[in-house]
Amino acid sequence: NPRKTLLDIASRYNQNQAISMVTAHDFITGRMLEKANIDIALVGDSLAMTTLGYKDTNELPFEEFLYHVRSVARGNATSFLVADLPFGTFERLTDQAVDTCVRLVKEGGVQGIKVEGGNPEILPTIRKLNSMGIPIMGHVGLTPQRHNSLGGFKLQGNSVETAAQIYREVRALQEAGVFAIVLECIPNRLAEFITANIQVPTIGIGAGPGVSGQVLVIADMLGMCDPDDSHMAKFVKGYDGFFKRGVEGLKTYKSDLEEKKFPTEEHGYKIKKGIMDELRK
Ligand code: KIV
Ligand code: NA
Repeated sequence: NPRKTLLDIASRYNQNQAISMVTAHDFITGRMLEKANIDIALVGDSLAMTTLGYKDTNELPFEEFLYHVRSVARGNATSFLVADLPFGTFERLTDQAVDTCVRLVKEGGVQGIKVEGGNPEILPTIRKLNSMGIPIMGHVGLTPQRHNSLGGFKLQGNSVETAAQIYREVRALQEAGVFAIVLECIPNRLAEFITANIQVPTIGIGAGPGVSGQVLVIADMLGMCDPDDSHMAKFVKGYDGFFKRGVEGLKTYKSDLEEKKFPTEEHGYKIKKGIMDELRK
């Protein structure tokens, strides 16, 4: 299969077919998304926590992020690849953002970039990136890079003022030319209203069913993180218990070794006739 393009995303949107988006953080998860024919693979900065053990996305060094972007790109040849713009790599705006995006496209191998926030300052930068041929995805509502200002990771847009604010941001992002907008952790009815009143796809996460597509963090949906030290948001649906099954497998391996159930003769190689006889002489 050829790599999906913006036209494939637009055509799914125009035909009212759900757009599937999942994060990937390395070669293997990139390949998993390819095998599952996921439309958009997002190399999200959430990999800072799920894969690198940082405490928030703001700690993620750009070079470490880029290393992960490259590994996803090597593993996935068919999804439309989007990378996040990490905290601290674009806020001085146009020049800094252009430099970072060029690296993500040129060295990282992605087709699009996602940027958090719909504040007026970012809009000329989005236009500039569009003019360079870099498709931009917006992200409003709960924008984790601003968690310190937002007072934590919680529902956004649950008052007249904040709902109107999010709607304004979405309209402005559309105006600036984004090809899709992630709506994170906002009330279902607000997401539905936004989706009905703009002409670009909305990709929900914690935004209910009234959106054009959905995104989940692969480590969350497949249960890749240690359940003992990860809290799962209400909006996550679990599709596997990867970490738990992995630990079970390791425990079985360990007891197999202790009970001499592994390896057995058939996990090894036979030697040609006569060699052992020669050696013993
Ligand atoms: O970093 C990430 O995983 C994201 C998605 C949750 C949208 O930004
Ligand atoms: Na992100």
